[in-house]
Amino acid sequence: NDYYQTNTQGHLIIGGVDALELAKKFGTPLVVYDVQKIKRQFQAFQNAFEKEQVDYAISYASKAFATMAIYQVINKLGGHIDVVSGGELFTALKAGFPAAKISFHGNNKTPDELLMAVQNHVGVIILDNFTEIKLLKRILKQTNTRVQVMLRVTPGVSAHTHEYDQTGQEDSKFGFDIRSGQAEQAFLQVKANPQMELIGLHAHIGSQILAAEGFKLEVEKLLKLVNDWKQKYDYQPRVLNLGGGFGIRYTAQDDTLTAQTFISQIVQKVKKCAQASHLKMPAIWIEPGRSIVGEAGYNLYTIGARKEVPGLLPYVAVDGGMGDNIRPALYQAEYEAVLAEKPHAEPVETVRLAGRYCESGDIIINKLALPKSKPGDVIAVLATGAYGYSMAANYNRVPRPAVVFAENGQAQVVVTRETYADIVSHDRFYQMEG
Ligand code: LLP
Repeated sequence: NDYYQTNTQGHLIIGGVDALELAKKFGTPLVVYDVQKIKRQFQAFQNAFEKEQVDYAISYASKAFATMAIYQVINKLGGHIDVVSGGELFTALKAGFPAAKISFHGNNKTPDELLMAVQNHVGVIILDNFTEIKLLKRILKQTNTRVQVMLRVTPGVSAHTHEYDQTGQEDSKFGFDIRSGQAEQAFLQVKANPQMELIGLHAHIGSQILAAEGFKLEVEKLLKLVNDWKQKYDYQPRVLNLGGGFGIRYTAQDDTLTAQTFISQIVQKVKKCAQASHLKMPAIWIEPGRSIVGEAGYNLYTIGARKEVPGLLPYVAVDGGMGDNIRPALYQAEYEAVLAEKPHAEPVETVRLAGRYCESGDIIINKLALPKSKPGDVIAVLATGAYGYSMAANYNRVPRPAVVFAENGQAQVVVTRETYADIVSHDRFYQMEG
């Protein structure tokens, strides 16, 4: 099983470090990343593009996990990133990430955020709606700057995935609709503005996509649009940004394509469509988030209370839950978990792995086969690296966990554990009368 590795004592290791030692040294709940796994995933996408001999950029969708440390790693690998807020942009710049390789996304970027992006010279602003075009126009005029932009269009493709994640269909809060002519209208507005350089088109069809069909359909629709604009306006985009959404393996049942297969199928489709319409081959950009960091992340918890329910599966509770991983509660997302001390031990029972938050829905895993376990045991939930820590919250005023990067047998804290002092740091006494 390539999900996890063990050392000679049979303990789970992450980045070459014993998970029991990580738990002991840094406490639980703890988020741990195997940095080599992140690098290997990124390089798998790079190698796939190199093989196809096309211009490309891999723009890590940092909403999946956005901290200074991950921005450093992606920068070291030569990647681009996308950010969707002033907070992500601030973090990336603080980490020394080159502004020129940042794309700024979002369906409701505020005036302040757009100004921040322009003043820091981000590489591309991905325009999402007409309000934003107007707003950016004003900011560019005021600051007397020029910026590269892309148009986010909705191609009317919704990849087969969980409904919360569908963003490519026509009834979407994101992007300009192609069919109704919004995209063309936006194109004309942008082309008329000399302070905006339209470098390409963007679309994103969904998340946790397990097959290439949706992407191929997306490519067809986008290149049809490109061909229309070439005929009508003699315009051809330099970049085709196809978004992210490449699926990962959360459990042994999940079956997804490799980076290699996704990319070769997508690129070949672009080549074919471009050739058929005599279009210049554009550079292909992708925005993988989950597939870069998802399988590299582990959430370590300590087992505490156990509750039997006659006739039903027992609850085994841990010291974390929906505060550090909301995905099971929000999307019915499924995960696997193993005991850090003996991941290969034969299961003896099936339990419900419960979180510690005051909400019945805070169940991390509904059906987990486990060897004999006891309070104090460390359990590792696998493949938690995407949208786990990045969606973490302080519900019940539980401090958010620390994040550790492990690589070659070394572990480093890259986000410290929140303290109770942090929890009240923004609270102010109410000055009551009487
Ligand atoms: N590009 C755009 C424009 C996006 O909207 C997204 C994700 C991505 C790239 C990255 O998609 P990925 O490769 O990570 O699938 N919180 C949800 C996922 C929300 C995804 C939103 N957009 C979850 O936990 O499943």
